[in-house]
Amino acid sequence: MDSLRKFVCPEFVFGSGAVSLAGRYADLLGGSRVLLVTDPGIRESGWASAVQDSLEERGLNYEIFDHISPNPRDFQVTEGAEFYQEKNCDVIVAVGGGSVLDAAKGIGIVVSNGGDILDYEGVDAIPDPIPPLACIPTTCGSSADVSQFAIINDTKGKRKIAIISKAVVPDIALVDPDTLETMDDELMAAVSLDTLTHSIEAYVSMAHSFITDRHALGAISLLGEHFIPALMHRDNREYQAAMMQASLEAGLAFSNASLGLVHAMAHILGGLKDFPHGICNGLLLQNVCDFNYDACPERYDMIATCLGGDPGGGREALLKAIGNLVEASGIREDPSRFALSQGECRTLAELSLKDACIVTNPKEPDVKEIASLYEKTFRV
Ligand SMILES: [Fe+2]
Repeated sequence: MDSLRKFVCPEFVFGSGAVSLAGRYADLLGGSRVLLVTDPGIRESGWASAVQDSLEERGLNYEIFDHISPNPRDFQVTEGAEFYQEKNCDVIVAVGGGSVLDAAKGIGIVVSNGGDILDYEGVDAIPDPIPPLACIPTTCGSSADVSQFAIINDTKGKRKIAIISKAVVPDIALVDPDTLETMDDELMAAVSLDTLTHSIEAYVSMAHSFITDRHALGAISLLGEHFIPALMHRDNREYQAAMMQASLEAGLAFSNASLGLVHAMAHILGGLKDFPHGICNGLLLQNVCDFNYDACPERYDMIATCLGGDPGGGREALLKAIGNLVEASGIREDPSRFALSQGECRTLAELSLKDACIVTNPKEPDVKEIASLYEKTFRV
């Protein structure tokens, strides 16, 4: 405890029925015309209309913006900000997965600060506060509803930018495990792997603290117990709620401790090839943990134990415990879907060195080491 530590998080409400509080909180935030940010899939699932009902019950007007894709694009943020201004909105309510929540944060940044979302890349680069923002996650993965992160695709540069700032912490997160019911199995697997990666990378991060450690280990223990049962029994509410809680705790941890090499590599890969984020993380996780292990073996041993691995089993127990979860997710069934050439591995490695998440990785990799991690994971 020889250094100063801070911890930032929004107010959050966790539990079944939290979605129905959207109207009340939008009202409390002073909104009279809400920009409801969502996507077509969430509209189809019924969660957007649940939020609409809640806004209507409170007598609030709203405008819907749903032009958002997975791995949200810079031009979608521009379009959303113009729509917000054209409709004279004064508060943002976002309901959806990480892409929707990140795009909503981006819209808020551009509304308050002008310019292009790509101008705000990096740490603490947002001068003016964004409009009031309420976030309702519908996956147990991104944790954007509690985090200081927003990830946006630079479409011309074919890369993802990371925006890290207290300015994008929402005012309220309404975290309702019931929303997980409408995710398909592949998305559930991908977002669960994202949460697993968040919790592990936060725990071994160079910026971890006593408070982020508690949340990271809380998430890892929940995942050790519930990851596989939750994938196998999608209708079991107790398992789904445990996964939502794991996502929340992992988010609290990584938002403050930041991430590491898995995310640096996954961001670059997602930007260049448009692969799903959680699957990139899940495929890379075991190999990167193997690479990092020597930098903090006692921390990785604790992770292995919390995941149900053999205590005292060292590196082997860690890799086995992670491997079991990745196998259960089913993402390795068709490796050719995510195959890379040798040249692509080298290019990706060079770009990964510039990602903000690499700074807090417990071991400093060079370009050759990163390229060989890409090759080991994605060359078939
Ligand atoms: Fe992530």
